[in-house]
Amino acid sequence: MTAGSVVQALYLVAGVLFVLSLAGLSRQETARRGALLGMAGMGLALAATVALSLVRSERPAGVTAGLIVLVLLVGAAVGTWRARTVEMTQMPELIALLHSFVGAAAVLVGFGSYLGSSSGPSGDAGHGGTVHLVEVFLGVLIGAVTFTGSVVAFGKLSARLRSSPLLLPGRNGLNLAALVACGGLLWWFLAAPGTGLVPLVLMTLVALALGWHLVAAIGGGDMPVVVSMLNSYSGWAAAAAGFMLGNDLLIITGALVGSSGAILSYLMCRAMNRSFVSVILGGFGAETGAAAPGGSVEQGTHRETTALEVADRLTAARSVVVVPGYGMAVAKAQYPVADLVARLTARGTTVRFGIHPVAGRLPGHMNVLLAEARVPYDQVLGMDEINDDLPGTDVVLVIGANDTVNPAAQDDPSSPIAGMPVLAVWQAREVVVFKRSMATGYAGVQNPLFFRENTAMLFGDAKEQVELIVQAL
Ligand code: TAP
Repeated sequence: MTAGSVVQALYLVAGVLFVLSLAGLSRQETARRGALLGMAGMGLALAATVALSLVRSERPAGVTAGLIVLVLLVGAAVGTWRARTVEMTQMPELIALLHSFVGAAAVLVGFGSYLGSSSGPSGDAGHGGTVHLVEVFLGVLIGAVTFTGSVVAFGKLSARLRSSPLLLPGRNGLNLAALVACGGLLWWFLAAPGTGLVPLVLMTLVALALGWHLVAAIGGGDMPVVVSMLNSYSGWAAAAAGFMLGNDLLIITGALVGSSGAILSYLMCRAMNRSFVSVILGGFGAETGAAAPGGSVEQGTHRETTALEVADRLTAARSVVVVPGYGMAVAKAQYPVADLVARLTARGTTVRFGIHPVAGRLPGHMNVLLAEARVPYDQVLGMDEINDDLPGTDVVLVIGANDTVNPAAQDDPSSPIAGMPVLAVWQAREVVVFKRSMATGYAGVQNPLFFRENTAMLFGDAKEQVELIVQAL
């Protein structure tokens, strides 16, 4: 058995571990096991790759090993530092930044593979050479779009760039022109292998601009879908790099990431009642930007309440639903909220959580926080599971959620979030909204819920207010 075939077998095992990892990650109860299987698969893949490069290296093995150890140390140090310091709320921007690395890697692998191959500038492209050239071209194209698209998504999510969409005149025409130009450059690239570097560089520049423009045209409200779409692109870029390098594991992993990112994007679009195409074509949220003053104007008078009053209402209630949102994450209120819910449950009150699919800033954000605070999984229900029960609920506690409970999404066709499915909390007997002010949420639109007769506002930091309620109880 050669070293190559041992490595292929290890790659296969790693591929299976990745598939099992994804299966585990799809449910909260098995997520920990899924993460461990993924880590084991990645460890195995790294070890096999290092072994293979030592066998294949044209340099002395010691030099190759030294270089690899150096790169691993730098990567592991930066990764450990970021994972320890990143706040849960900054996770989407970190993910966007990591996708940009995958995109950049695909571009570099593409250029490296082209310059070093026999079908490269000085070589002669036979049939196999043409296939390789197409792999190089597509890998660099997807990688360059992913790179700049992810950098813009990172900038928007971290508030380094304006989150409103960039609306150039004829923007869809510009995107189409860029794609047509890339098609022409591919033809040139294949027709003249000797001078292929020129069309390859030109295409890279066009693709970098295309990635930038595609994401710049998408408003902040759609960034979750964009991040998962870029996740998908980064997977396809990795798969393309796998084809170029003849690395089966990279192809398998890239395809897994590419397809799971695409499925997640589709599910998120469905949760926002948007079509995938309308998200990609951008421009959503433009009206929000233009109408921001009107959109955020208060629409009546609101009623305020106190922690003591809320404690009284909760004592009298027989059924309570807690709807958490981004504010719960900011306030780190999940621990006192879990404590409150445990106390009410112990008194015989029926308490459940209602989780909107895009509550917070990343898919599953609320589920992760509640799991961290050890809330039993059977108390945590999805939007579709809880919505029918809301009319029969005595009290709904909206803790730092805003857009995800906005009735305008159903009642006002001119609202920028019209059509987005929401938790119909206003149908409950009483609603208490925990937030610090009358400020708008992520989409920048005012929420008519706050001015309804059965809604009371509990102003202040969500964690402090919930702790006061727990004390009063
Ligand atoms: P948001 O609409 O973002 O509203 C959060 C609210 O929390 C704000 O109105 C804010 O009001 C309040 N808040 C902030 N800090 C607080 C604190 N310390 N104590 C109490 N309240 C606090 O939240 P949501 O309902 O969860 O909606 C999520 C939004 O983010 C959607 O528009 C969604 O499309 C978007 N988004 C989602 C994702 C994913 S995948 N989940 C990713 C990116 C974007 P005050 O400032 O007045 O306190």
